[in-house]
Amino acid sequence: MVQIVKIENESKNVRTLYFYDRELSKRRAGQFCMVWKPMEDEMPMSVSKVDANGLASITVKPLGTGSKALYESKTGDFIGVRGPYGKPFELVKGSCLLVGGGTGLVPLIALAEELDAIKSKVTLIIAGRSKDELIFLDYVKDSLAPKGHRIMVSTDDGSYGFKGQAPNLVEILLRSERFDQIYTCGPEIMMHKIFLLAEKMEINLQAGLERIMKCGNGICGSCALGKYLVCKDGPIFSSKILREVHEEFGKKKRDLSGRFVEITSH
Ligand SMILES: Cc1cc2nc3c(=O)[nH]c(=O)nc-3n(C[C@H](O)[C@H](O)[C@H](O)COP(=O)(O)OP(=O)(O)OC[C@H]3O[C@@H](n4cnc5c(N)ncnc54)[C@H](O)[C@@H]3O)c2cc1C
Ligand code: FES
Repeated sequence: MVQIVKIENESKNVRTLYFYDRELSKRRAGQFCMVWKPMEDEMPMSVSKVDANGLASITVKPLGTGSKALYESKTGDFIGVRGPYGKPFELVKGSCLLVGGGTGLVPLIALAEELDAIKSKVTLIIAGRSKDELIFLDYVKDSLAPKGHRIMVSTDDGSYGFKGQAPNLVEILLRSERFDQIYTCGPEIMMHKIFLLAEKMEINLQAGLERIMKCGNGICGSCALGKYLVCKDGPIFSSKILREVHEEFGKKKRDLSGRFVEITSH
């Protein structure tokens, strides 16, 4: 159990909860933790911002009961955390395009910082339905832009930046620029569209996938994706594996009972 020491609002409905946990503060970009509010369900969340003094955090959007209980936490409340779990992003030195939608941006912010440390050039696309749903924009303007990295924004309704969905902006960029690697995390429909564009241009892609996770470390099988376990073999998968699981990626996933359900845009 850890105690929440600070809470920051990232947008009208996304919050970052900070706490001290030495293990989680050593996470690599893309790794996640299992987290719960006492008496509520446990669920996976990316480990968000960390520092060298053991500070770690999660960034929460309230959807169902578990995430709402976390979102409504107050400074001083206790939450349970375990991890970090999963394979991180593989770092590629060169020109990298990062595309994140919603809370999918959480692992990409950490990734941008790791890529900066190995002197890669980052283009980060922050995508959202509208301006008031964008997260981490001020943070990256202060931390990444001054180091020469490029920040771009797309909103579905055109209230900020490019008007349209992130894959439309990616398609335009790929007409005139060459990237050594594309990284994406967010709604699976979005990631799938970007994967198809990357395939056309023969650029390797790494995507962060979400599935139901109960144990978080390879025991229960609830996160199965083809012959892979998202908690252990992922959550980051590269193009080679995404090609192998093409019947599921972007199309269907297992629900809490293990039954396949169609992946929709919501
Ligand atoms: C690797 C990974 C990283 C994630 N990172 C973030 C993040 O940084 N921020 C964020 O807000 N969300 C993140 N999610 C999504 C998050 O885990 C939940 O799916 C989401 O918050 C909805 O949960 P809920 O209980 O509020 O919703 P509901 O739809 O009400 O869930 C219904 C039931 O399903 C269970 N449930 C829902 N999703 C999952 C799940 N993935 N695994 C196990 N049980 C589940 C709930 O406990 C509940 O019993 C991530 C998911 C994965 C797999
Ligand atoms: S969550 Fe249990 S095996 Fe992946």
